[in-house]
Amino acid sequence: MFGALAALVLSLAASASALAPHHSAQLRRHNARGTNVTFAPRSTSYKLVDEFSGQNFFDGWDFFTDADPTHGLVNFVDGDAAKKLAYVQSDNTIVLAVDDSDGVPVGGKRNSIRISSKKSWTRGLFVADIFAMPHGCGVWPAYWSLGNGADWPNAGEIDIIEGVNTNTKNQVTLHSGPGCTLDKAAHALADVLGTSCASSNGDNAGCAYQQTQNTSFGHGFNMQAGGVFAHTLEADGISVWFFDRDAIPADVASKQPDPASWGTPTAYFPNTQCDIMSHFLAQNLIFDITVCGDWAGSAYSQSGCPATCNDAVANSSNFNLAQWKISSVRVYQ
Ligand SMILES: *[C@@H]1O[C@H](CO)[C@@H](O)[C@H](O)[C@H]1NC(C)=O
Ligand SMILES: *[C@@H]1O[C@H](CO)[C@@H](O)[C@H](O)[C@H]1NC(C)=O
Ligand SMILES: *[C@@H]1O[C@H](CO)[C@@H](O)[C@H](O)[C@H]1NC(C)=O
Repeated sequence: MFGALAALVLSLAASASALAPHHSAQLRRHNARGTNVTFAPRSTSYKLVDEFSGQNFFDGWDFFTDADPTHGLVNFVDGDAAKKLAYVQSDNTIVLAVDDSDGVPVGGKRNSIRISSKKSWTRGLFVADIFAMPHGCGVWPAYWSLGNGADWPNAGEIDIIEGVNTNTKNQVTLHSGPGCTLDKAAHALADVLGTSCASSNGDNAGCAYQQTQNTSFGHGFNMQAGGVFAHTLEADGISVWFFDRDAIPADVASKQPDPASWGTPTAYFPNTQCDIMSHFLAQNLIFDITVCGDWAGSAYSQSGCPATCNDAVANSSNFNLAQWKISSVRVYQ
């Protein structure tokens, strides 16, 4: 969630979650094959343990209402103020939106939503089927997970979907405590942006990949009715796959996902230079949308958007498409 330009400790952020014991022994496998570190599929089959979908979706999530730790021009709301921004449509699509009403002054704040799963998981396969994601001038959405926020970055952060403004290519990022590096030999489909996962106040770009497809973020993603982002958090690595709507594997649709059949991951962070289980503790899933702030604000002048990010906040048209439209989130172990 901190992006390339962010500069802040998440000490106030997120629901604290109990730190669960590590599960490493049964998951260990060998990735290193010479200098080329490739994803080695697990033999264990994944079973559905949690599903978030349909009219009861929000039962599984808490609304975060603290100030945005990334300095966005938003008020994260809950209760009555959240009712028109976070709801389930009659067709079971889950909507999370930025308020797009008129009357917000230049540099003012918009009401928005940040939700965090009540449960946390120390490992597993997480499958998010998303129809549309927020985008637009000043808009900064993220789908991510976080260990105990009071212990950021030591409890780990995994950013699965993130981008700002007019971006069309998704960025996948890890933030960790010291001693975790993305192995340059990792073989993945996306382009490596940085290899230092360790993050701190002054230097928190994290280790990151940028996807190559313009259907992976923003307008292009939405034009094809989105797709699926699936990621695994296991002792041998963190892997992310992106599937366009028309290329979702049958085993995902049938809720019997087998990452061993999915080929090279979009983003792959093997354990070869990072002890995954000690750097990424029990993770809560999070969806949020912020506005301007540390990343969208800093990158605004290079985004092709008019005037300043503070001006963009005041123009309600910029927020007509600032909406997550989610089909389901499923967790398998
Ligand atoms: C790893 O091997 C694959 C083919 O098996 C190749 O396409 C890829 O470029 C290699 N990656 C690295 C980092 O050497
Ligand atoms: C994505 O890229 C393709 C070819 O590179 C192009 O034809 C298409 O218009 C682009 N789509 C968007 C939404 O930018
Ligand atoms: C408001 O935003 C819309 C959509 O980005 C843009 O087309 C329009 O020109 C903007 N209006 C002003 C007054 O800046």
